[in-house]
Amino acid sequence: MLNEDNQRLFKEAMGNYPTGVTVVTTTNREGDPVGITVNSFASVSLDPLIILWSIDRKASSIDTFTKSGKFIVHLLANDQQELVKLFSSKNVDRFSKIKWGFSDNQLPVLEGAFAVLECETVQTVEAGDHTILIGAVTNIRTEKKDPLLYHRRHIGAIPSEFYERM
Ligand SMILES: Cc1cc2nc3c(=O)[nH]c(=O)nc-3n(C[C@H](O)[C@H](O)[C@H](O)COP(=O)(O)O)c2cc1C
Repeated sequence: MLNEDNQRLFKEAMGNYPTGVTVVTTTNREGDPVGITVNSFASVSLDPLIILWSIDRKASSIDTFTKSGKFIVHLLANDQQELVKLFSSKNVDRFSKIKWGFSDNQLPVLEGAFAVLECETVQTVEAGDHTILIGAVTNIRTEKKDPLLYHRRHIGAIPSEFYERM
């Protein structure tokens, strides 16, 4: 099969694979906040607590994320659609449009996520056109909120019939 066909099929398959959505943040050398919308997030290990996500090497924040050594993953709640768009839009001052503050560890924390995982980078792995960042979770906060879902380029809450079928 042609490589182009495989890429199309891969996109079709992955686009039909539902995920949650996160915004991952860190701080650059100047101390400014940096953040990106990410759905490649996955939990890896319970003991010790390890997670991973991957970043496109073309992303403007690639060097900041690979060098800072720490980051925060915000697991978005179902009322945070706007953050998904904001943190994946080009040429906008992302942090001027939202409520956020610095953690004790000088990392940008956004308001309203259902979970906030503060991490230290333990490994980076080059994988094709992306870099995988593997993080040890050093601090966790949670809120009792429902998650935001991403599927076929749509974002939204878990539909009520999803629960009815259980
Ligand atoms: C739902 C969703 C999930 C995304 N997941 C990722 C991801 O896992 N890794 C990644 O590098 N970019 C991901 N992106 C794309 C980036 O958020 C987007 O390209 C962003 O603008 C990159 O930051 P930059 O503009 O600073 O380069 C995702 C975008 C959306 C809308």
